[in-house]
Amino acid sequence: MKASVLTEYGRIEWQDKEKPKCDPDKVLIKVSYGCICGSDQHIYKGEFVPRTTTPMVMGHEFGGTIAEVGAEVSGWEVGEKVAPDPIIPCMECPACKIGHYPACTSLKIIGVDLDGGFQQYIQLPPHMLYKVPASIPDKYVALVEVMGVACHAKNRAGLKKDDSVVIWGAGKVGLCVLQAVRTVTDNTVFLVDVLPERLALAPQYYNNVVTIDATKVDPVKVIKEKTDGKGVDVAFEVVGHAHEVPGQVEPVRGCIQSIRGAGTVCVLGLSAETTPVLFKELIWKEAKIVASRVSHGEFAEVIDHLVNNRLKLDMIITDILDGSKAQEAFDILDNDPANNVKILLDFNG
Ligand SMILES: NC(=O)c1ccc[n+]([C@@H]2O[C@H](COP(=O)([O-])OP(=O)(O)OC[C@H]3O[C@@H](n4cnc5c(N)ncnc54)[C@H](O)[C@@H]3O)[C@@H](O)[C@H]2O)c1
Ligand SMILES: [Zn+2]
Ligand SMILES: [Zn+2]
Repeated sequence: MKASVLTEYGRIEWQDKEKPKCDPDKVLIKVSYGCICGSDQHIYKGEFVPRTTTPMVMGHEFGGTIAEVGAEVSGWEVGEKVAPDPIIPCMECPACKIGHYPACTSLKIIGVDLDGGFQQYIQLPPHMLYKVPASIPDKYVALVEVMGVACHAKNRAGLKKDDSVVIWGAGKVGLCVLQAVRTVTDNTVFLVDVLPERLALAPQYYNNVVTIDATKVDPVKVIKEKTDGKGVDVAFEVVGHAHEVPGQVEPVRGCIQSIRGAGTVCVLGLSAETTPVLFKELIWKEAKIVASRVSHGEFAEVIDHLVNNRLKLDMIITDILDGSKAQEAFDILDNDPANNVKILLDFNG
């Protein structure tokens, strides 16, 4: 079989690799599509060292079909479509002991801490798999994980029907958060970014989305004006490493300033830098700030949304390249983020 192997940081080779055997307690999955995540872009550049080492196979967003079922495994059949949940909680730490797995202090993720799905076959224990109905297109199965991240954030924020929302960051994850939000509320969603091309996508698919280019106007001012001075019910920060916009507050603080009294800010962005927060702005509003990490079983919710046609995944799939072209795909994403959102890698060949 073939695998996209990160042989050294910045270099991916399409290599021959021995097809894994199927252990008695595992299932062997034939990968159909993988999808490149922002974390993969960091791994590719060596920014997750020492957590990652080369050679390695990336890929925590992928889907496939079962090719073989281990002798001790029951309830799974060859040919079934599956979406693997890549997280491996330690089950020992205080968070794991109370069943709060995303907060595991030694959480492992396949495709990050051990080899992942950017290869034609991978074997996994069945408890990591979610069944996906055959009617769901393979390319959508590769997006179940990132949509799980988005639905988890929506659930962490306690989003309610008719809530108004701002999403700061219309990137790979932000545009998934938009889709998760739209499964709950049709009220106004403000979408803030600094790339007009990315902002242009959502209004082609959704009504009542107000896009705000933070390089041209002050997002907080626009949100206040358009909500009669009240602010939105819920704000999602999905930027992480922010481009500095002169004269404007950083995204987390912008979120805090944009919500109504007793509103909620949900932070997803991962950045190595500190971000300024003026706590009295939060305290005066007696507002809630929650963090959201990976997902917590939202795979089932996402699959239900797919079955009921509630998502618009074509909005974010900007390219599909053969698995042998992984290096090219990473370079495209790095060089032209404005015109590329999610790039799928095809491992069917
Ligand atoms: N919490 C989690 O579970 C989780 C999961 C996946 C990714 N993340 C994190 O979420 C963040 C976003 O990931 P992504 O893959 O969508 O990245 P991305 O680069 O595709 O999207 C970020 C967007 O923010 C925009 N942006 C930059 N500076 C801005 C500013 N000052 N104001 C407004 N918009 C600005 C960029 O133009 C871009 O479109 C990253 O930090 C990533 O590490 C978190
Ligand atoms: Zn991801
Ligand atoms: Zn743990």
